[in-house]
Amino acid sequence: MNILILGGGGREHSLAWAVLQNPKCDRLVVAPGNAGIAAIAECASLDINDGGVVATFVEEECIDFVIVGPEAPLAAGVADRLRDAGVLVFGPSKAAAQLEASKAFTKAICDAANAPTAAYGHFTDAAAAKAYVTDQGAPIVVKADGLAAGKGVIIAETVEQAHAAIDDMFGGAFGGAGAEVVIEEFMQGEEASFFVLCDGTDVLPIGTAQDHKRVGEGDIGPNTGGMGAYSPAPVLTDDIAQRALDEIIRPTMAEMAARGMPYQGVLYAGLMIENGAPRLVEYNVRFGDPECQVLMMRLGAQAMDLMHAAAEGRLNTAQVNWAEDHAITVVMAAEGYPGDYAKGAVIGGLDTLPATGSQMVFHAGTSQRDGKITASGGRVLNVTARGASLREAADSAYRMIDAIDFPEGFCRRDIGWRALD
Ligand code: AMP
Ligand code: GLY
Repeated sequence: MNILILGGGGREHSLAWAVLQNPKCDRLVVAPGNAGIAAIAECASLDINDGGVVATFVEEECIDFVIVGPEAPLAAGVADRLRDAGVLVFGPSKAAAQLEASKAFTKAICDAANAPTAAYGHFTDAAAAKAYVTDQGAPIVVKADGLAAGKGVIIAETVEQAHAAIDDMFGGAFGGAGAEVVIEEFMQGEEASFFVLCDGTDVLPIGTAQDHKRVGEGDIGPNTGGMGAYSPAPVLTDDIAQRALDEIIRPTMAEMAARGMPYQGVLYAGLMIENGAPRLVEYNVRFGDPECQVLMMRLGAQAMDLMHAAAEGRLNTAQVNWAEDHAITVVMAAEGYPGDYAKGAVIGGLDTLPATGSQMVFHAGTSQRDGKITASGGRVLNVTARGASLREAADSAYRMIDAIDFPEGFCRRDIGWRALD
């Protein structure tokens, strides 16, 4: 099979790495890719949010199967455009991608499906939103309805903070994403992520993970795209995972199908777990980044068979071969991230590191210049390892980190602390 992966971060490097292990892959192209991906696959420079451009490339290059990494092409309808052209795609339609692209849509689906989630109000003007906050009190969560690159959620400790956040959102701080606002009850508990594949009808769990969103050790400081992740997440026990499937995910899938927008692809459910019960925080219509890196390290070559089965509607006969293993990924970021950071620093030591089924450095924001790998993004490398225990995996990842020469970069030394404690 000739396969095209859309995207160019650490998530897509790990997807490419897993796909290449599968003998069914004859040729792999990644668009746009990055310096790490270029070392293992062909890269193509394409506007991946333009369905016409991608469809033309797919036809010219005789691509059989397209795997969509990020949410933006899905929300832009790229999967629809490809399916209309008869191309097999892993990833939801534009309509189904509203599960990530519109928080109000997701809350309405949860209501209809009776799925446990935070109580909420949905507003199109500031005065009504503020009145709701005054009535509910704080802490309370203010969310821009649309895609805001992970920045559209404000956890307000006071009513005044919530009012200010509402003014910011309706004032255009998040562009079109903030034209509508969802205000939610603040949920207590521990967060974990649950990943399932869906084919419109059936659902197949492929793993749990926990990430570390804050930039600083001990989970302090500003939010980031994620500074590290590990899988499995012990807080998401088999029993809680089963409840999440029965009470949240399957009812959501049934509601989506009933509305004529069956969901196909990976569904990433962010869950809040309190007193043994899961509630939905959010859905994403893609793999998490960096959660994907630990899932791919654990699944290996079968990941491609599973994504292929989801795209072809065969999940009812698919199964995951689980190993009793643990995986961790530690993000090396450019100094200053998630604020301003410099680009162009040369990264050394990478060629001394192993690249095996248990130890891999996935590249996020890297470029190649004069034969050298340089940092070109905020999150730069995802140092990923697998072991019989999380401790073994973590020790292995940090040994790799210590061999990487990137003085302009930093990482958190405590990834996995909740599960390691
Ligand atoms: P979201 O973009 O919806 O994932 O929100 C980003 C982060 O904000 C989540 O991962 C949670 O840590 C936090 N969050 C969002 N909604 C809530 C809520 N209702 N209660 C508590 N924390 C929340
Ligand atoms: N790591 C969080 C996300 O991908 O949304």
